[in-house]
Amino acid sequence: MPITKYALPDIIFGPGTFARMPLCARQLGAQRVLLVSDPGVERAGWVEQATDLLRADGLEWVYYNECVSNPRDTAVARGAEVYREERADVIVALGGGSPIDTAKGIAALVGNGGRIQDYEGANKLRKPLPPLLCLPTTAGSGSDISQFCIITDRKRRMKMSIISRTLTPNISIVDPLLTHTCDARLLLASAIDALAHAVESYLSVLSSPFTEGQALESVDRIMRFLPAAVQDKKPEALERLSIASTQAGMSFSNAGLGVGHSLAHTLGGIYDVGHGAVHSALLPVVMEYNMRDCLEKMAGIGRCIMGGELSNAEDTARGGIEYLRNFFTRLGAPVRLSRVLPDDTGLPAVSVGALQDVCTLTNPRTPHAGELLALCREAW
Ligand SMILES: [Fe+2]
Repeated sequence: MPITKYALPDIIFGPGTFARMPLCARQLGAQRVLLVSDPGVERAGWVEQATDLLRADGLEWVYYNECVSNPRDTAVARGAEVYREERADVIVALGGGSPIDTAKGIAALVGNGGRIQDYEGANKLRKPLPPLLCLPTTAGSGSDISQFCIITDRKRRMKMSIISRTLTPNISIVDPLLTHTCDARLLLASAIDALAHAVESYLSVLSSPFTEGQALESVDRIMRFLPAAVQDKKPEALERLSIASTQAGMSFSNAGLGVGHSLAHTLGGIYDVGHGAVHSALLPVVMEYNMRDCLEKMAGIGRCIMGGELSNAEDTARGGIEYLRNFFTRLGAPVRLSRVLPDDTGLPAVSVGALQDVCTLTNPRTPHAGELLALCREAW
């Protein structure tokens, strides 16, 4: 068996664990926290609750909210300036993947200096980062668990994947109650992102026994609990989605992803489209493409999706993909890229950019740019 390594933050999971944030920040040495969030999380009331908790505990804080969907290099650079100017000592990220990735980018610059572009790729961060505590308010990105940080270079119109062991947060507090303020659209997009993390990492060439079980359980939970979460925001269903998202994060952080995420990253850079909005169109097409090189594993995913198997491995794999398309359609998720993108003129550039994305390296089938363009056209 090849050598594997497995990194995770301390994970504190459960309803009401949000209240432990100040204690956890103190355990990381906090006296003056940089709290990173965004206007959407403010409107949901969680930023006010976070500052109330910090105040009650006697901790100082500086608030930074220049976070947008597809977080930008400029916001990361500005946040690092604020951290230094304000003499903060611990970063607390509160929100979905965008504030958490912004916070990770800030931590990278505070610890290592330079520009965030200097660290694009795998294992470029050589120096330690300031302590990072994450509180996800969505069940999907897995950024609170992972070694990944995805930042958009606005000049080059591309998303940079920065991957390093030191980007794993110190602590992730996963309180499922924080997802109750997500609307149905955000719950759906976040969960489908988590599903793509689980499927792609399960198929990854770096998957291991330590990641495969988490990935399959994540797929199973999302298939069983996503409809009830979207329809009625049932607390039990939302809690299961938080578990599934955390499991998918454990898996993809350590096994890597595949061309679905290479394409999603590049689409986000060129079209500035939301990350969670493209996976329902891309994932079935990418699964079909990969099937040639990992049929048994695809059959495993098919069994998990359908809750049973068909007459042989190929039928089970194909059945799972078809089931997934119908599942997305029933839930109202876009199964065509044409529903979320304004035009198809950028697709050739997307396929070239995706070939360079670090997630392509761990895909089970090695693509060329023409194949990636064909996948985009098929998903159109
Ligand atoms: Fe993702």
